[in-house]
Amino acid sequence: MKGLVLCGGAGTRLRPITHTMAKQLVPVANKPILFYGLEALKDAGIEDVGIVVGDTKEEIIHVVGDGSRWGLDVTYIEQEKPLGLAHAVLVSKGYLSDDEFVMYLGDNLIKDGIKSCVEQFERNHPNSQILLAHVKNPEQFGVAEIDGNKVVRLVEKPRIPPSDLALVGVYIFDRNILEAAKSIEPSWRGELEITDAIQWLIDNNFKVDSHVIDGWWKDTGRLEDMLEANRIMLESLEPCVKGSIDDRSMVIGRVVIEEGAEVVNSTIRGPAIIGERTKVVNSFIGPFTSIYYEVEVSNSEIEHSIILEKSKIVDIPVRIEDSLIGQNVEVTRAKQKPFSYKFMLGDNSGVVIV
Ligand code: DAU
Repeated sequence: MKGLVLCGGAGTRLRPITHTMAKQLVPVANKPILFYGLEALKDAGIEDVGIVVGDTKEEIIHVVGDGSRWGLDVTYIEQEKPLGLAHAVLVSKGYLSDDEFVMYLGDNLIKDGIKSCVEQFERNHPNSQILLAHVKNPEQFGVAEIDGNKVVRLVEKPRIPPSDLALVGVYIFDRNILEAAKSIEPSWRGELEITDAIQWLIDNNFKVDSHVIDGWWKDTGRLEDMLEANRIMLESLEPCVKGSIDDRSMVIGRVVIEEGAEVVNSTIRGPAIIGERTKVVNSFIGPFTSIYYEVEVSNSEIEHSIILEKSKIVDIPVRIEDSLIGQNVEVTRAKQKPFSYKFMLGDNSGVVIV
C-alpha cells in the first residue's frame, strides 16, 4: 500500500503566517504538522509515499527531502493549481499506478495515528474506507451518513448536516477512485471534491466502509485549531532537558528544553517546549507554549502560544496569551518618546491591545 500526502493548497485561513510558509509546515509542539502525518504512515507500515505539492513545493522538498529520516521513500508530485482533493488524486495517477493507497491531508493531525484504520481496510478489503469523527460543527467538513460500517451518503460542507460525522482527512482507496475522480464535475467552489468522487463510488455500487475514531484529531486550518493542537501534543511530551538552565531558574512540570537553549533567571511552567538555541531571560513561560528555535524572550511573559523561529519578544509588560507569532517577528517596547504603538503588520494580521 502507498501513501499520498496532500500539501498543495493555499492556507488562506492561517494568513498572515501562510503568506510566507506552507501551512503543513507550521510547527505544533515544535514539530511541523506534516511530520506527524509522515510518522503515522510509517507507523502503519507504509513506506512508499507520494507528496502532492503546489506553490510551496521548494519549501516542502527542502524540509522533507527524500524521506529517509523517517525510513520513507518519498516521491514529489506537482499539482499546478489547487483544483481539489480529487484533482490531486488525478495528477498522481502515474505514481499510484494500480496500487491501493492511503490519502492523508497534510494539515490534519490524528493523535493516535492510522494503524487500526489501515488494519481494518486490510481485513475487509472494501474499495474505499473513510475515517470519520463525531464533531460539534459538521457544517465545516465533509459529512457522512452511515448504516453500520457502510457509507450511504456524503456531502461536502452542507448547510444542514445529515449527521455529526465529519470526514477526517484520511481516506483509503483502491484504483477505482481514479475513474470516480475522472467522472465528477467541479463543485460550487470550483474544486473536484473527493467527497463527490466517493459518492460516485457509492452510486456505482462500490463498497465504501467507514472507520469512526474516538481519539483526538484536528484540521489545523485556523488559529484556534493550531493552539488546541499544540495543547494536546504538549500534554504527551516526554520531559527532557538538553539545553542549559541556570540556578536562578525554575522548571515545573512537563517541559522540554532543546539542545543549545538557555534559560536564565526564568520560570518555565509546563507543558511547554523551548526550541534549539532559544534564549529565555528574566521571563515566565506558562503552560501550553511552544517556542521554536533561535527565539529570544527577555523580560516578558508568554502563555498558551506558539512562537516561530528567530523571533524576539523583549520587555513586554503584559502577558502574551493565545497568540501565534510568525518567523522573525520583533515585539519590543518603545525606549524613548513618543511612547506610542508602532506596528508593521502583514496583511490579515490580528492585534489585540490592553
Ligand atoms: O480536514 C478534513 C476536511 O478536509 C474534510 O472534512 C473535507 O471533506 C475535505 O474536503 C477537506 O476540506 P478542507 O476544505 O479543509 O480542505 P483543504 O482545502 O484545507 O485541503 C486539505 C489539504 O489538502 C491541505 O493540506 C491542502 C491540500 N490540498 C488541497 C487542495 C484543494 C491539495 O494538496 N490540493 C488541492 O487541490
